[in-house]
Amino acid sequence: AFEERLVMEIRLFLFMCSLLPISLGLDPSPPFLFGTASSSYQYEGAYSSDGKGLSNWDVFSHIAGSIDDGSNGDVAVDQYHRYQEDIDLMEAIKVNSYRFSISWARILPQGRFGEVNMAGINYYNRLIDALLLKGIQPFVTLFHFDIPQELEDRYGAWLSPQSQEDFQFFADICFKSFGDRVKYWVTFNEPNYLIPIAYREGTFPPCRCSGKFGNCSGGDSEKEPFVVAHNMILSHASAVDLYRNKYQNEQGGKIGIVLHCDSFEPLSNSTADKLATERAQSFSINWILDPILFGKYPKEMEIILGTLLPKFSSNDKVKLRRGLDFIGINHYASYYVRDCISSVCGHGRGVSRTEGLYEQTALKNGVPIGELTPFEWLNVHPQGMKKMLMYLKDRYNNTPMFIVENGYATLSDPNVTEKEYLNDHKRIEFMSGHLDNVMAAIREGADVRGYFVWSLLDNFEWIYGFSVRFGLYHVDFATLKRTPKLSATPFSVAVLSNELDL
Ligand code: NOJ
Repeated sequence: AFEERLVMEIRLFLFMCSLLPISLGLDPSPPFLFGTASSSYQYEGAYSSDGKGLSNWDVFSHIAGSIDDGSNGDVAVDQYHRYQEDIDLMEAIKVNSYRFSISWARILPQGRFGEVNMAGINYYNRLIDALLLKGIQPFVTLFHFDIPQELEDRYGAWLSPQSQEDFQFFADICFKSFGDRVKYWVTFNEPNYLIPIAYREGTFPPCRCSGKFGNCSGGDSEKEPFVVAHNMILSHASAVDLYRNKYQNEQGGKIGIVLHCDSFEPLSNSTADKLATERAQSFSINWILDPILFGKYPKEMEIILGTLLPKFSSNDKVKLRRGLDFIGINHYASYYVRDCISSVCGHGRGVSRTEGLYEQTALKNGVPIGELTPFEWLNVHPQGMKKMLMYLKDRYNNTPMFIVENGYATLSDPNVTEKEYLNDHKRIEFMSGHLDNVMAAIREGADVRGYFVWSLLDNFEWIYGFSVRFGLYHVDFATLKRTPKLSATPFSVAVLSNELDL
């Protein structure tokens, strides 16, 4: 056992040495990252083990009727106990990075109003060390939808500016505890996706909405989404400010944010639909990235929202200047966009997130933009990947980009045999089509530095529970047994052998 431990220590040491040039800023081009992505609530389980506090998702998923199939994430895919097995699965597909998130309530059960849970810190230490031993870089998200319930109960979490201190406090503990080994940090995952469904339509916790927007009450759908976004943007800025001042020089990592990035095109050539497409960009991606990269909200939002849009103080603007090191991209689907200001919109396939301004739809005269899948909002249109990358390249001055989620889902179906799940030709087609378009964008100058598949395993898909399967590995949710699907192949090798000079 001693010898094994020694060998492990030496391997870890050698791996840390290989990171040294990057830490010292000597190597301007670290290797392209290939990986799979996950999040704490969707994977870990162990929801009340070893001192973990309750998160908003623990509370929400236990309320009858919240999750489509009546399930919850109490056990999820039990990565808390099975991380070593999962790392072996990653090794088998030859990825060099793993994206996961840190459960805030596992580290700080009561947010900043209680003690640090050392058992939580130790879990992530074990996970990170085990990844590094296999040469797999941790790519770590701080906020991926789950927060200590305490913060909701005290003051409505993100509705309060106090959330900025909460987030900075949590980020500080993570940088301090793990930053010697974690070189990629993400502050927020998909605030632009979460906010409308949690504060306008009310389907994700804290389930707030009003008026015509959803069938719940107790919120203000016109105003709250913009207040919450403001607090999240400033929380991002506070964490980046802290990282730059206190940690970055010594630790040498990079920090960014992840946005839900659909690709949009106008439904018709009409000026109204073209303008609606610009509004769709403004009210989704640019809503969050413009303040971080340009210090202000998109002009269009200011004009349309007027006083509903919060303002940045001069202090805020100073913090915002800390910007980010990379843009993280979750890309799954493309949509047509139609105007809803001069015409009345119905409800097309897809989510209409900003009622009255524009509508997203996958259909034009009944013909889909790409192949429709059994999963609600996912339509397959690989060219959308390139289009969206080129859009971000042009708008944000070719800031380094990582695609940190892209993936294909099938639905759980009692009539489908396990063997059928395993023959996932469609997923392979999806990935190769999207990778082709990533390569095309790189060839045209887009600074893309990594590609992560959602997801390593079938897992808990939020309000859809276990009914949606995104994994390269199939999970039998009764036994938690993992079985490789056809897509669980070394996709990085496949891409690299495709003569791509990454
Ligand atoms: C984006 C989210 O970040 C992730 O949590 C979710 O499971 C995937 N999309 C698939 O819907």
